[in-house]
Amino acid sequence: MMASSSLDGEPATQVDKEEPKFMRQMSMSNLKDEFCDPDNPKKIQFEDISAAAYKIRDGVMKTPCTRSRLSGLLGVDLFFKKEFLQFTGSFKERGARYTLMMLNKEQKEGGVVAASAGNHALALCYHGKELNISITVVMPKIAPLMKVQACRSYGANVIVTGKDISESREHAMKLGKQHGLIYINGYDHPHILAGQGTVGLEILEQVPDLDACIIPVGGAGLIAGAALAIKSLKPAVQIIGVESETCPSFSAAMKAGKPVYTNATSTLADGLAVPTVGVNAYVTAAPLIDKMVVVDEQSIALAILRLIELEKAVVEGAGATGLAAIIQGMLPELAGKRVVVILCGGNIDTTCLGRVIERGLAADGRLVRFVVTVSDRPGGITELARTISKMGISLKDMYHERAWIKSDIFSVQVKCVVETRDAEQSKELESVLREKYDHVVWGPVH
Ligand SMILES: Cc1ncc(COP(=O)(O)O)c(C=O)c1O
Repeated sequence: MMASSSLDGEPATQVDKEEPKFMRQMSMSNLKDEFCDPDNPKKIQFEDISAAAYKIRDGVMKTPCTRSRLSGLLGVDLFFKKEFLQFTGSFKERGARYTLMMLNKEQKEGGVVAASAGNHALALCYHGKELNISITVVMPKIAPLMKVQACRSYGANVIVTGKDISESREHAMKLGKQHGLIYINGYDHPHILAGQGTVGLEILEQVPDLDACIIPVGGAGLIAGAALAIKSLKPAVQIIGVESETCPSFSAAMKAGKPVYTNATSTLADGLAVPTVGVNAYVTAAPLIDKMVVVDEQSIALAILRLIELEKAVVEGAGATGLAAIIQGMLPELAGKRVVVILCGGNIDTTCLGRVIERGLAADGRLVRFVVTVSDRPGGITELARTISKMGISLKDMYHERAWIKSDIFSVQVKCVVETRDAEQSKELESVLREKYDHVVWGPVH
């Protein structure tokens, strides 16, 4: 096994400082991932998935796939495949365990290296410990501390370096070369694809008469494996891929006919922010996908909220995009159909979750913001508060402004944030206030 001390800390930064840029670029061009070759992409086969299912049967959970209470509300016979219940909180364990198990004795002794901001790293670190294989993960500086700590708790070598995942990948590949570690791409290594495909086999067993399956797409490893499993056994099942509108890299690849770079901006669905989809994943998945949709951030927040409130499920942004696509009205053709949505991960930071819930409430019209000008004489503000509370609405925030308002000197402008029962009650409040006061500005922008 490799000495972990040589990999600790942040050597990349030092190496980068010492190496002139042109040398870095030269060494970079040699850093090719032999398993993911753009000039020779590999299409995986159904047999790879069944082999994976057999190998990982004792080490990865068969998660429930149950009918959702949201079915009636959304007019779809909806089932959720609950991959967020995996031990490390995502489907990534399937591919990670299979890939580790497929290494030969020498490779297992040498150890592996990967770059990931989250779920792939967690899955590898946990199964590496289980299988006694040394794991090195390079995580970008933006990786949530909680995930970094969790990886360390599994005894892995965790290096935090790189301003984004591509810088971390560069470093991971360099380490692989220097120390003889096998580099495992989390969405494109053929064994990763085969492992992820096992989720498709389980879905078919659990909901044999499904009409469609909605699958979130990042680097496309999950959709490649799952679509192959499903279409091989039930070709009539519709495969629908979902991306965040902040990084529609698979849709761009479909247009271009090959993986292309797509700029990614910050998103709630951080697991899907992969600027260039995998080359093996693309050739495997592209012919099997019936439709690709992109969802916005509001719908993702709303989907997370619905899952917490109605399913008692804590799901991260990437994992909630399948439901977001239905909520956003992107898939009207699925009305009345039996549909499986993969809830593929649950690793959301607690601080982030609080903010997302607020955004979800706002998107749902239950958290509203308005400005109203009321009398500044005694009782003016009390009267406003009374009007709100009499309707059973909760006043969350109130801010008064006097100095800059242009109306009469005995007026005060009050900015309020209130929480209502539903969007209808918010509308009711708006009309009550408009009736009572001359100046009401409704909504988020003033
Ligand atoms: C929770 C979650 N969902 C979906 C995905 C997308 O998977 P893939 O990159 O295989 O498309 C990821 C990737 O990290 C993820 O973490």
